[in-house]
Amino acid sequence: MKDKLLDIDNLKVNIDEKEILKGIDLQINSGEIHVIMGPNGGGKSTLAYTLMGHPKYEIVDGEIELEGEVINDLSPDKRAKKGIFLSFQYPEEIQGVTVEEFLRTAKTSVTGEMQKIIPFKRLLKEKMEELDMKEEYASRYLNLGFSGGEKKKNEILQMSVLEPKLAILDETDSGLDVDAIKIVAEGVNRFKNEERAILVITHYNKLLDYLKPDYVHILMDGKIVKTGGIELAEEVDKNGYENIKAEVSSMK
Ligand SMILES: Nc1ncnc2c1ncn2[C@@H]1O[C@H](COP(=O)(O)OP(=O)(O)OP(=O)(O)O)[C@@H](O)[C@H]1O
Ligand SMILES: [Mg+2]
Repeated sequence: MKDKLLDIDNLKVNIDEKEILKGIDLQINSGEIHVIMGPNGGGKSTLAYTLMGHPKYEIVDGEIELEGEVINDLSPDKRAKKGIFLSFQYPEEIQGVTVEEFLRTAKTSVTGEMQKIIPFKRLLKEKMEELDMKEEYASRYLNLGFSGGEKKKNEILQMSVLEPKLAILDETDSGLDVDAIKIVAEGVNRFKNEERAILVITHYNKLLDYLKPDYVHILMDGKIVKTGGIELAEEVDKNGYENIKAEVSSMK
């Protein structure tokens, strides 16, 4: 049997008193790739931020369990130490901190082990080569002046260096050219193993062509309204969300 990594039960989340997530149930086992699709404003990023523990998102009901432990009240850094990673839809720029410094500090913090400069440099170089990133990016300030695609690749670099148990990728494929999507997908596939799971939020099928997800969920108006396999993503690609919307409202 696979190990249950994440168990979300009836999760309701408010932002500024407004209910955004209206009862999310989702179970993710180690070794699985889950995809969340859905119309703009449905609550996908809200779910991602809530899982990471962003203080703006108020859990008003329900539970988030990671490996059997309720993590509702844990701070983002504690969640990171427990193995959750979020790749942001809109990565931040940080002046004065290089990619290498940032990643070495983050890795030290997440693992609790001091990362020595030379071995870390070697690790970073290897991971950057895998992602077809030029070495010079290691000494550039984090995301500063990076193109949209470069920022996204940098997020995948973070994931491969930090080696989380649960990687949440919020639209990491958007804005990437076709070659970069392939490189990112290869990065994700290399990262995937029996102990890790990946939650991919996306609007496009291109990435899914390479990823072979186990489940595809449709999140709409704060709820997961449908779950299926890759065929669900194909249906959305072909017909948009109209059929699913009609199905949902006929069930009400
Ligand atoms: N600070 C806020 N105050 C009020 N509403 C907010 C706030 N932040 C987010 N929302 C609302 O929450 C809803 C869900 O937003 P979210 O970013 O989770 O959507 P999404 O599914 O990720 O959309 P997209 O596909 O466009 O990225 C939206 O209607 C958004 O306007
Ligand atoms: Mg979003």
